[in-house]
Amino acid sequence: MAIERTFSIIKPDATRRNLTGKVNAVLEGAGLRVVAQKRILMTQAQAEAFYGVHRERGFFRDLVTFMTSGPVVVQVLEGENAVARNREVMGATDPSKAAPGTIRAQFAENIEANSVHGSDSAENAATEIAFFFSGIEIVG
Ligand code: CMP
Repeated sequence: MAIERTFSIIKPDATRRNLTGKVNAVLEGAGLRVVAQKRILMTQAQAEAFYGVHRERGFFRDLVTFMTSGPVVVQVLEGENAVARNREVMGATDPSKAAPGTIRAQFAENIEANSVHGSDSAENAATEIAFFFSGIEIVG
């Protein structure tokens, strides 16, 4: 399996509880390497554009409000099969359905404040990485 990159966000519910290191420990334990990382306050325009695919969903406005409610840590993760591996270690979107040991099972508060985001395909990973990072900020 080729080395791949994926995009990840540690969300405001996790940064508020000072869980960045604990989330990163789970990611690293799963064989993923943090090759870029920055803590930012997402603007409303960034959150709306990033989650544009969900614009018509009932939870969209609340999601934008949540994602701009505090710092997030945006990341590029690298490893074998990184997109699938990250989704596995994140667990299901709804923490009540997430497998034991996953990040969301351990840390998420609810289906919205679910601690982490991860790209769902290699194609979306490339788009999402480019949304937040320039090439020189990623050091593998
Ligand atoms: P994420 O993987 O970042 O993608 C979309 C986000 O919308 C999701 O995680 C949750 O934070 C949020 N969300 C809120 N309600 C729902 C819902 N009912 N279904 C899916 N995602 C939801």
